[in-house]
Amino acid sequence: MPFKCPERNCALCPRLVEFRKTNQEKYPTYYNGAVPPFGNLDAEILIVGLAPGLNGANQTARPFTNDYAGDILYPILKEFGLAKGNYQKRKDDGFELINVRITNSVRCVPPKNQVTGEEVKTCGKFLIDEINNMKNLKIILTLGGVAHNAVLGVLGYKKAAFKFAHNAVHHLAKHNLLMINSYHTSRYNINTGVLTAEMFKDVIKNILNLIK
Ligand code: URA
Repeated sequence: MPFKCPERNCALCPRLVEFRKTNQEKYPTYYNGAVPPFGNLDAEILIVGLAPGLNGANQTARPFTNDYAGDILYPILKEFGLAKGNYQKRKDDGFELINVRITNSVRCVPPKNQVTGEEVKTCGKFLIDEINNMKNLKIILTLGGVAHNAVLGVLGYKKAAFKFAHNAVHHLAKHNLLMINSYHTSRYNINTGVLTAEMFKDVIKNILNLIK
C-alpha cells in the first residue's frame, strides 16, 4: 500500500490554506506547511497530538518542536528511555525517538490553535495511513480529546463506547491495539493544573508496562 503523507503545500482544507498564506507573509522564515510525523514507522508506540503550534511545529517542521507542549513531552520521553540526544527545539538538533513515532490529528497549523471537525476528518486519511503502515504498532497514546476522537474515527469505533479519561486504557479489539489517553501537554493544561508532569509520567509508565 503506498504511504501518503500530505505534501507540504497540502490544499485539502481551505481554512488552513488561507491561514498558511497569511503566515507565509507574516513569518517568511517559518516552515509553514503540513508537518510530517517524527520517528520511525517500525515503532511500537504512536503518539497522536492535536495540530502544530504556530511558532512551534509550524516553524520548525517537527511535531511538538519549539512548542510549549514539547517542553513537557520530550524530556519525559527521554527520562523513560523513549528518546535520546539533546532536545534543542530544532528539527536538526539530532534528538531521536526510540520505539515511538509522533504525529498530529491535523498536520497544518490552525487559527487560534483550534481545528474543525471537518479538518480532523479530512486529515484522517493520513492518520489511518500512518496506523496501517506501522506494522509493529501496539499502543496509541492520544494527547487530548481531539486526538482520542480522531483515532476512534479513522479506525471506525463508536465514540460513545470509549470515553476519554486521563490514563485510561482502551482495547481496540478489532485492530489488536491498545489506546491510552492523556490530557494534552499544552501550556493551558499545565498552568491550570489539569495535567502535571507526574500525571504524564504515570501514563508513560503505564505504556512501558503494557508493551513489556
Ligand atoms: N505541537 C504539535 O505538533 N502538536 C500538538 O498537539 C501541540 C503542539
